[in-house]
Amino acid sequence: MKIRELLKISRVIPVLELDDVDTAPDLAEALCAGGASVLEITLRTPAAFEVMEAIKARVPQAHVGAGTVNTSDQIDRCKALDLAFMVSPGLHAPLAETALKSGIPYLPGVATASDLLGAIDLRLDTLKFFPATAAGGTNMLKALGGPYGDIRFCPTGGINSDNCEDFLSLSNVLCVGGSWVASKSLIKNQSWDEITRLAKAVNNGAT
Ligand code: 3PG
Repeated sequence: MKIRELLKISRVIPVLELDDVDTAPDLAEALCAGGASVLEITLRTPAAFEVMEAIKARVPQAHVGAGTVNTSDQIDRCKALDLAFMVSPGLHAPLAETALKSGIPYLPGVATASDLLGAIDLRLDTLKFFPATAAGGTNMLKALGGPYGDIRFCPTGGINSDNCEDFLSLSNVLCVGGSWVASKSLIKNQSWDEITRLAKAVNNGAT
């Protein structure tokens, strides 16, 4: 599936930093029950690859991808796991070329018009906008929509129940990413029903 199609599956992509392989599939099930089946597991914990393997094995309806992909070695490991997608916080042409060659749908981050020129050079038209609120929020996305009307974004960073609809109402936004639907404290307390409720609220436009 192309990255643009993948971003149309759910209005929110939970960004997850997970340590516990045993509970990760329960969390993934809770998110899928709320319609959030595209899951970004950040490569910020030693357990991240094992977590993704466990979710893939137990929750086949989840689209499991890696976030914080910073190196080509990580891309090799993502390929070995046959992941659904990969996300990088920024855009670095050599890394993006390796990612595109891997065949795994790829979502690099941009924050400026100059970044967008680099993306267009690589024929990328679907991008993460990161860090969304710090990099200018909805005003910046509207401004970038002038010269770059064909580009579609997944804003991530600083998004929550209070501001997600502002982003989702923009014509150049396909979905938003964020950790608020499954915060560290909700995960620690195994508050699966609340996590399902938060995911459902975004997908139903009821935040
Ligand atoms: C991240 O890289 O951690 C994501 O952008 C999530 O940001 P958030 O915690 O502000 O949602």
